[in-house]
Amino acid sequence: MILALETSCDDTCAALVTDEGRIESNVISSQGLLHSRYGGVVPEVASRRHLELIDAVTADALESAGASLDDVKRVAVTRGPGLIGALLVGVSYAKAMAATRKLPLAPVDHLHGHVTASTLGEDPVQAPYLCLVASGGHTFLARVDEPGSYRILGQTLDDAAGEAFDKGARLLGLGYPGGPELDRLAREGDPDFFDFPRSAPGGSSSLDFSFSGVKTALLYAVRDLGETQASDRRADLAASYQRAIVAALVDRTAQAVAREGLVRLAIGGGVAANSELRSSLEGLAGTLGIRIWIPPPELCTDNAAMIGAAARFVDSLPYPGYLSLDAAARL
Ligand code: KG4
Ligand code: ZN
Repeated sequence: MILALETSCDDTCAALVTDEGRIESNVISSQGLLHSRYGGVVPEVASRRHLELIDAVTADALESAGASLDDVKRVAVTRGPGLIGALLVGVSYAKAMAATRKLPLAPVDHLHGHVTASTLGEDPVQAPYLCLVASGGHTFLARVDEPGSYRILGQTLDDAAGEAFDKGARLLGLGYPGGPELDRLAREGDPDFFDFPRSAPGGSSSLDFSFSGVKTALLYAVRDLGETQASDRRADLAASYQRAIVAALVDRTAQAVAREGLVRLAIGGGVAANSELRSSLEGLAGTLGIRIWIPPPELCTDNAAMIGAAARFVDSLPYPGYLSLDAAARL
């Protein structure tokens, strides 16, 4: 079994995954509530909390899997990208866990984790496939020809889709993290009430995204409506805003499928937990006659099982070479 750890942002995560991709346990301790009073993740607070939680979260993952450290043959950890202090907690802990038993250690790229989330479970996606990753820090389309790597075809030029959800939610007075709350509020609104821009930077020859324009459009709409009207139209604003973000993601995905000639599509990242995106992409797959892999929400948002998934496809470092391994805010 692989013991996988993930601490790149504000979730402390540990999981046990087999070499075949079976998830034996997947424990996620979210710090959402802790950071909500600040309206966003405070890096130093996140690092300190990871330090307090990681031992218990790892013990919980072992216990839920009915396993002990004797069953662990490899340790995997997110090396980056992410908050450097937060990453360091996971990397240091993983090194210590591996070194005490002289186990190999697999350093994993967090984004590779999101890309390979759908390779877990009973019905894993097989390469080659197209993957849409939309999270709080990243938004990109990638081509996976073999599961050990991925090639980015297009990415956001400014805000990530999750960032756009969070900033929009804040403009609408919703709590943090805003994405799930906006998703809920949007269900009560009319997505066609406001006409927010669906940007496609670079036109049809590009697969890049841009979400800063839609965010500004929402800001102006709220300002123009005034406090009372904006409050009355909150659900319509949320639904129309979500529609614009989802449409931009879906349009680019459709374009990528056509351009790359792929018949398998997987999605990942926190925004892949969005209900409208999930149903829209399912519809798209039906229309295009391709297969889609939509992981359960807990494998879309940050988790350690996906780090274990990616670890199966990367080279592990033997003991004691990894003792000099460093976390990296950017890869
Ligand atoms: O992948 P993730 O957990 O962390 C990063 O690697 O960034 O993604 C977190 C992002 C946040 O911006 C959050 O608001 C967004 O994913 N998110 C959602 C939903 N659930 C999480 N956005 C829209 N709808 C959701 N249901
Ligand atoms: Zn992530």
